[in-house]
Amino acid sequence: MTESTFTPRVFSGIKPSGGLTLGNYLGAIKRFVGMQGAGFETVYCVVDLHAITVWQDPAELKTATREVAAGYLASGIDPEKSILFNQAQVHEHAELGWIFNCVARVGWMNRMTQFKDKAGSNAEKVSLGLYAYPSLMAADILLYHATHVPVGEDQKQHVELTRDIAAKFNHDFKVDFFPLTTPVIEGPAMRVMNLRDGTKKMSKSGESDMERINMTDDADTIAKKFKKAKTDPAPLPETLDGLKDRPEARNLVDIYSALNDMTPEAVIAEYAGAGWGRFKPALADLAVEKLAPISTEMERLMNDPAEIDRILGRGAERAREIAAPILKQTYDIVGLLRS
Ligand code: TYM
Repeated sequence: MTESTFTPRVFSGIKPSGGLTLGNYLGAIKRFVGMQGAGFETVYCVVDLHAITVWQDPAELKTATREVAAGYLASGIDPEKSILFNQAQVHEHAELGWIFNCVARVGWMNRMTQFKDKAGSNAEKVSLGLYAYPSLMAADILLYHATHVPVGEDQKQHVELTRDIAAKFNHDFKVDFFPLTTPVIEGPAMRVMNLRDGTKKMSKSGESDMERINMTDDADTIAKKFKKAKTDPAPLPETLDGLKDRPEARNLVDIYSALNDMTPEAVIAEYAGAGWGRFKPALADLAVEKLAPISTEMERLMNDPAEIDRILGRGAERAREIAAPILKQTYDIVGLLRS
């Protein structure tokens, strides 16, 4: 079966393991909003079952789940246009995840670079869930027969694994049941880097708060973090090529371009020859202009958790309308008896 025989459908998710960062916003949420109403059915998830692959305090997990949902809503995900829910309310994810644990090979999992990075030298002590995580991610996507998955660069290998799992399932059971999903990784912010080290990804779990912009940071904090961001002494070059070996400078140009919906070339054209004393305040002003309305709206939404829970509950019902028949068919294909 070719991709075109499936309904064009987008699925993507964000883990509620700490607050949202500018990396999540530019690499994921902002692009999710762009795909809404653009010829796709859009399904967006707060992937709480993924969060618990590392320890989460139960009360904080609930708050973080609502906060990611608030981030989606405040950025422009419309629960009427998209299906918005949290993974744990649709038990089909865990069930298909188990079936995919029996399709995926241990050798495939051993190649997952994110697991190696996260487990580090501690691989014997991390949870089995952290190791199996990519097969649950494949289940998230394939439970909706999603054709497109917008993600940041760090998730590319997991979406490729999803394709391998779909192909092996189809081959083993001689069906054309699961689509080969296309990862959508495009634009200048596919890998927003750490503000203190331009060779590392900006992440929720980095050691210092100064290395990331949180979606809940206030204007002063955003300005301070950009001011203190690591750079080199040279001014901005005349062409993008001149940023080749300057990861920190390149990162700030990419952030500016993604926030302002312009190409990095256009940013360089505007700021060629500018020093950091001019570029950093301009970047901070732009970030505050774009992010302040979102953080204000997130705060408002977080004051009404019952409303967030209602939206997620309704989204889960709609998600199950798609997921339940696909899981039932999967059980039938595999030969699992349903009375
Ligand atoms: P997570 O929660 O780590 O990140 C959520 C999304 O944000 C993107 N992202 C970034 N993009 C650019 N620069 C950064 N510094 C940056 N940091 C994070 C991620 O690429 C991702 O798109 N396994 C996934 C969640 C997941 C999922 C799925 C995604 C579970 N099931 C099914 C898509 C489809 C994760 O841990 O993302």
